[in-house]
Amino acid sequence: MAQTTRIAVTPGDGIGPEVVAEAVRCLETLRSKHNLALEWTRFPWPSHAWHEDHGESWPADALDQLQQYDAILLGALGDPGPIDDSSRYLLPDSISLAPLLDMRKGFDQWVCERPARLLPGARQYLKDDRAKDIDMLVIRENSEGEYVSQGGRLRQGKPDEVATQMEVFTRRATERIIRYGFEQARRRATERAQASRTRNFRTLDGRSCESQVCVITKRNALRYWGDMYTEVFEEISQEFPDVATHHELVDAACMKFVQCPWAFDVVVASNLQGDILTDLAAVLSGGMGVAPSCNLNPTDPDMPSMFEPTHGSAPDIAGQGIADPTAMLFTAARMLEWLGRKDPTLGLAGKELFDAVAGDLAEHGGEQRDTRQIGDAICDRLQA
Ligand code: IPM
Ligand code: MN
Repeated sequence: MAQTTRIAVTPGDGIGPEVVAEAVRCLETLRSKHNLALEWTRFPWPSHAWHEDHGESWPADALDQLQQYDAILLGALGDPGPIDDSSRYLLPDSISLAPLLDMRKGFDQWVCERPARLLPGARQYLKDDRAKDIDMLVIRENSEGEYVSQGGRLRQGKPDEVATQMEVFTRRATERIIRYGFEQARRRATERAQASRTRNFRTLDGRSCESQVCVITKRNALRYWGDMYTEVFEEISQEFPDVATHHELVDAACMKFVQCPWAFDVVVASNLQGDILTDLAAVLSGGMGVAPSCNLNPTDPDMPSMFEPTHGSAPDIAGQGIADPTAMLFTAARMLEWLGRKDPTLGLAGKELFDAVAGDLAEHGGEQRDTRQIGDAICDRLQA
């Protein structure tokens, strides 16, 4: 039997614990069904509740503790809700969300993968029926760029105050994220070919390819990193002649995500631009209730990757048991698939979970069901 894989479960705030509870039930179901070598530990931090009791969001050695695990399954961080309780314990976002950014940075989770595929049953926001073909993977650079948190405020509160916020782009991080994008494009083309679902993307010189990478910049205004991204993209594309290349400025990309999202395959964007584009991409694929997200370190096996849905703590509905756990369950499925790199039985379980969640969505998408009902239905499918 494979060495036991250990998951740190961090439910967090708001609807986090509600949707994580359903993910854990699915993991339990899969574990007993397939006798998986899988264990998990639930942590009460990072969270508002922990901060209220301890004056900090998590213990000083939190990252060291989490590093002992193979993966982290995170619910959500932020306003715990309910919003009509004006006396609830509330922290500024910069404090409550810091652990999320600290995990990404501390474990060098340099890839943020956010797939956006409009699955049957998911809400179709675009009227155009070609929306059914939306199937993109947005890859967000997750280690630097606009999120380096360097800068400061000078003469704070004074009329002549100055705020600076640095953006840092390195060739090393640019190369690794762009190469990762091309590798994913190739992988997706292979998977599509196996499923007889081929797609076609034209290159500028008139060839036709089965996959595409679109790199996003704002090089017409932010030229230094924009030019570096463009050059690195051109260089690395030479290693992948089978993958079509495309470049979009981020503002035009927003327009085209709405106008013709089915024309995109893999999209590589900087940290902030990827953040913004993936909220839009989530809506294109059915909304925040179905959008998974993964923060990955593909290069260092000693560093845990972290899996959290794109949605936040949803304080407006927290505590009512009505949050849709679908995004969390798709995220858990991707986590298992990721862990399948070490233990293939987990990869198969991840696929099974994905199919169960997608099957449930196809049959019941659009129905009013509470969190637990959706979890029950998916566990039943897994047991069937
Ligand atoms: C996300 C979130 C975070 C981000 C926030 C909460 C700091 O919006 O994961 O997309 O900007 O990365
Ligand atoms: Mn975001």
